[in-house]
Amino acid sequence: MEGFNEKEGQLYVDDLPISEIADKYSTPAFIYSASLIRNNYNKYANALTEGDLICYAVKANSNIHILKELVGLGSGFDVVSGNELKRCIKAGADPKKIVFSGVAKSAEDIEQAINEGILSINIESEDEFDRIVNISKALDKEVQCSIRINPDIPTGSHKYIETGLKTSKFGVDTETLSIISSKAKTTPLIKLSGIACHIGSQISDNSLIMKSLEHLLEAHKLLTNDWHEINFLDIGGGLGITYKEEDPGDPESLIAEISNEIRALNLNIVLEPGRSITGKAGVLIAKVEYLKLTEYKNFAIIDAGMNDLMRPALYDAWHTVKEIQKSDSDKRIYELVGPVCESADVLAKDRELVISQGDLIAFMDVGAYGSVMSSNYNSRLKVPEIMVDGSSLKLIKKRESFEDSIALESDL
Ligand code: LLP
Repeated sequence: MEGFNEKEGQLYVDDLPISEIADKYSTPAFIYSASLIRNNYNKYANALTEGDLICYAVKANSNIHILKELVGLGSGFDVVSGNELKRCIKAGADPKKIVFSGVAKSAEDIEQAINEGILSINIESEDEFDRIVNISKALDKEVQCSIRINPDIPTGSHKYIETGLKTSKFGVDTETLSIISSKAKTTPLIKLSGIACHIGSQISDNSLIMKSLEHLLEAHKLLTNDWHEINFLDIGGGLGITYKEEDPGDPESLIAEISNEIRALNLNIVLEPGRSITGKAGVLIAKVEYLKLTEYKNFAIIDAGMNDLMRPALYDAWHTVKEIQKSDSDKRIYELVGPVCESADVLAKDRELVISQGDLIAFMDVGAYGSVMSSNYNSRLKVPEIMVDGSSLKLIKKRESFEDSIALESDL
């Protein structure tokens, strides 16, 4: 059985009961299903044609073992920092399949990207273009770039994860696009070979992404009029997943629609999905430390906090909670709260659960933007990550020890 499934009152990942994994590695811990990651990747890969590229958005989950799994499938990568780039290279990624997004690339980041010879540095401002020109001249190396446009399209998802509005810091407007385009005509070391766009995350309607494609096609006209040889359009990531009741579009139909629009222009497609590849492939397991039943609310106090899973506190995000083993206690409505000394440390509200002290629960759909957003707040230690594939199990990140956490402050 692939992925997370229930058998005889127990929650499993692939063929393994999660309770056994918890016995071995304790809680809290993130558990991933390799088969789900592969399936999600293949939904994109099977719909693409030769020359198209999936650049998995590393920020969603950057564990090197997950990156290696994706390298094995032929994936490219979208990175947003020099260290994400280093992770990909270490995982064995082909630099020619890496795009580098982000508004604040440092001179070191750019130098590193040029030296690695990556597929594209996605330019997000005129200043950044100038910096790339200077560095490429100093290194005397050609550099492949895309321009990331800002199409001013609202997506209706949480305001913190909208990125394509004219009020957001990402991408360039049409005027800046033309300025960069004409400057690039006279800078032979810069090869403008792509145009990029990413309007936001957790998008539930593919037509919004298609709208951004219209803007990419307009930008394509402008750049080709300036004699730039554009090879690909990078449509970004953003395809949503079902956390609760959302009904997002699927990769296959999105890619079919994009292909229809661009094949005649002899262009390839680049996509930067993150959440839709790893999101549903991970859970966070936690233990019920105490039940605190009050006149106003029933609290289930658990051993995972907002520092381990930040999405509920930051975005009011919903993650389904499941009992890992059915116990025979009373069914009640609970607020699930963690150990962090903040009232925002609520991982789930109003959940009907049958739990008692010591029971295990799982927060579903946390494979993307779960572990990567965790912190050491309250001097809590980062939790381990475990990858399951069928009936095999591998620790892919150790639990942090107190000594690990204090190391950078010691012996100074
Ligand atoms: N490409 C670029 C340039 C991006 O900025 C992002 C995400 C992606 C691709 C991948 O988007 P995805 O396919 O995963 O939606 N922490 C937030 C999500 C922030 C996304 C930031 N950018 C959350 O937990 O919902």
